[in-house]
Amino acid sequence: MAQLELKNVSVRFGGLLALSSLSFTIGNGRIVGLIGPNGAGKTTVFNVLTGVYKTSEGDVTFNGESILGQRPYYIFEKGIARTFQNIRLFSAMTAVENAMVARHCRSSNGIVGAILRTKAQKKEEAYIKEKAIEALKFMGVDQYADTVASNMPYGLQRRLEIARAIASEPQVLLLDEPAAGMNPSESSELMTDIARIKDIGIDVLLVEHDMKVVMGVCDHIICVDHGVKIAEGDSQEIQNNPKVIEAYLGQPANQ
Ligand SMILES: Nc1ncnc2c1ncn2[C@@H]1O[C@H](COP(=O)(O)OP(=O)(O)O)[C@@H](O)[C@H]1O
Ligand SMILES: [Mg+2]
Repeated sequence: MAQLELKNVSVRFGGLLALSSLSFTIGNGRIVGLIGPNGAGKTTVFNVLTGVYKTSEGDVTFNGESILGQRPYYIFEKGIARTFQNIRLFSAMTAVENAMVARHCRSSNGIVGAILRTKAQKKEEAYIKEKAIEALKFMGVDQYADTVASNMPYGLQRRLEIARAIASEPQVLLLDEPAAGMNPSESSELMTDIARIKDIGIDVLLVEHDMKVVMGVCDHIICVDHGVKIAEGDSQEIQNNPKVIEAYLGQPANQ
């Protein structure tokens, strides 16, 4: 079981304090939700956890090791995978190729080996493809394996992005607004899928605007506003927290 921890992390963009001494723990077999109004700092959390944004204020540890300041690829290889708020697939590649690229981080020959194509490498390539197809199946998009990503329906591209992340066999998966642009039946399916991701032993951090999805699937929820953690608890506690209500509505509910 993985444990990913932010400890007093602050991130500044010029004069803006995007994250202010933020601490919380992801992992331990839970689906953790991260909510907050637009601009609260949720995507910034993802970018700090994955090494995209650098900061020297605070620390991020993964299974006890400090990963703050490490390069994104190192963190990805360690077992932290993500999806993006805006889809970032390799749009000219097929679905299975997208998933295979992610899987290469687990191969002994790497991308160079795949280009040189010795016999051992061909065998490994076949194995990578098998694993990639497994991930596509898991997310229900294997029938699109040979379809160019940009030709897939939008909702399925979002599923492919999750499949690609799963193909890398992560310990922790960070999902940034996976239900964005999905219709109600797609987002309800997505809830089931997120629960299944937890069941195969991947810890999830979910950023999502669709409160039905967040409340329905998260074991633990953290609410941030202006980069500050304002509440933390289970869905019941969060829904009844006056600070959370105020952050969303701009004023206390009883006023
Ligand atoms: N690369 C950046 N440069 C400058 N400001 C940024 C950058 N990334 C995020 N911000 C700012 O930090 C704040 C938090 O943004 P973000 O993490 O994207 O919020 P959220 O995902 O919760 O909507 C916002 O005010 C945003 O404008
Ligand atoms: Mg965001």
